[in-house]
Amino acid sequence: MNTNEIVSIFARLKPEPSWSFAGTTTAQTGYITHSYHRYPAKFIPQLAARLISEYSEVGDLVIDPFMGSGTTLVEAKIHGRPSIGVDINPVAHLITMAKITPIEPNYLDSVVAEIENDLNSDYTGQLMLFDDSRTDEYGINHERIDYWFKPEIKRDLGKIYMLLNDTQSDDIRNFLLCGFSNILKNCSIWSQKSTKPTRDFKKKIPEPIPIFLRQIKQMAKRNRKFYQLLKGPGYLEVPASAYCEDARNLPAKSDTAQLIVTSPPYVTSYEYADLHQLTALWFGYTSDLSEFRHRFIGTAYHEEKPANLQSETAEEIVADLNKKNPKTACEVATYFTEMLETFSEMRQVLKKGGYACIVIGDTMLEKVDIKNAEVFVEQMQNIGFQIERLIMREIPSKILPQTRDKKTGRFTKSKDADFLAYPHEYILVMQKT
Ligand SMILES: C[S@@+](CC[C@H](N)C(=O)[O-])C[C@H]1O[C@@H](n2cnc3c(N)ncnc32)[C@H](O)[C@@H]1O
Repeated sequence: MNTNEIVSIFARLKPEPSWSFAGTTTAQTGYITHSYHRYPAKFIPQLAARLISEYSEVGDLVIDPFMGSGTTLVEAKIHGRPSIGVDINPVAHLITMAKITPIEPNYLDSVVAEIENDLNSDYTGQLMLFDDSRTDEYGINHERIDYWFKPEIKRDLGKIYMLLNDTQSDDIRNFLLCGFSNILKNCSIWSQKSTKPTRDFKKKIPEPIPIFLRQIKQMAKRNRKFYQLLKGPGYLEVPASAYCEDARNLPAKSDTAQLIVTSPPYVTSYEYADLHQLTALWFGYTSDLSEFRHRFIGTAYHEEKPANLQSETAEEIVADLNKKNPKTACEVATYFTEMLETFSEMRQVLKKGGYACIVIGDTMLEKVDIKNAEVFVEQMQNIGFQIERLIMREIPSKILPQTRDKKTGRFTKSKDADFLAYPHEYILVMQKT
């Protein structure tokens, strides 16, 4: 199929209402472990579940090369499919590990009760000793941490962190660290209304210990439901493996996966490295934010590299952008080049006849339409995929095309906003030929 044919197929697509999941409540999208931790641009689990049910069978291997907070892996497990997921973001890896690991609920309740007891009784006096001299030992003596946390809050968080690090079991430690990570934003002076890093010096900060205990108790209830859901059909032992890796280096053998379900990063929209800096700094995943940013596809902080687009639509987009802003043109060219590399890796791990389901929307930069979906279809066709089905879905929470303010990350209608997201997106179901 040539470029014009692809463009005309997209022009004829109409939204398919059943893929909007319009009546789905937040309780439903956050069921079982899905609400352990916030994550930008999360899938709704019902969408991942439907793709898994329609395009694979029990026992088939499912992969998510941009797993984020692990939605695909959780859904694969409860549908009896083994899964592998990778993400370059260590915070995503931690969250996913916690979310895919069912823990025996009565044992977990006893651990939570013990933690509550330790924190309320000051951990047999030891927590009282947690002062500035201990922050070096735990690697949290970092100017960026002091930039975000008031000293007394940092001290209380430090006490919790010290206790969690003493935990012997990896599963329990991941569970607790995931809970700790999710309260860091609330406990910092990061503006609560903003996704992007903005300080609010008037913010009322809750006390860390009660908020942490509330968080892990809620998580324990969700773990119980997850455990029971898996136990019924005998899926507790269905393997789910998460790695902190690049999507271009998938830890799976060639020709083994039946299905890929993924939502890739967008170009210059979220800077995941910045958004997750609180956890990354506390847990020592990085001490250098600029180095951290370079690892992500879609970042604005990339070095220039030779473009290999394999898409006429991509070439037109880059040429149009070049007339307006050569730097943005270069970022977009790098993005499409790197996405192509990920598609070849996906092809490599898929079985012949297996499917890659890519969930992606179009955006606008510098008033140029960034037709991600059209470009991806063209690129994938050129390396040995064919279209099985293209689904257009409306995103119920987005009524109008929305823009984001670069400073606050908030949705805005301002003419000056730099990033525009449309209220619909596509599911590209591509089959390996
Ligand atoms: C749209 S999010 C995925 C969200 C996920 N579907 C969920 O439900 O949480 C895209 C992800 O791509 C990851 N990413 C960016 N560059 C990557 C790379 N080179 N390799 C693997 N993952 C990468 C980001 O860290 C981010 O988690």
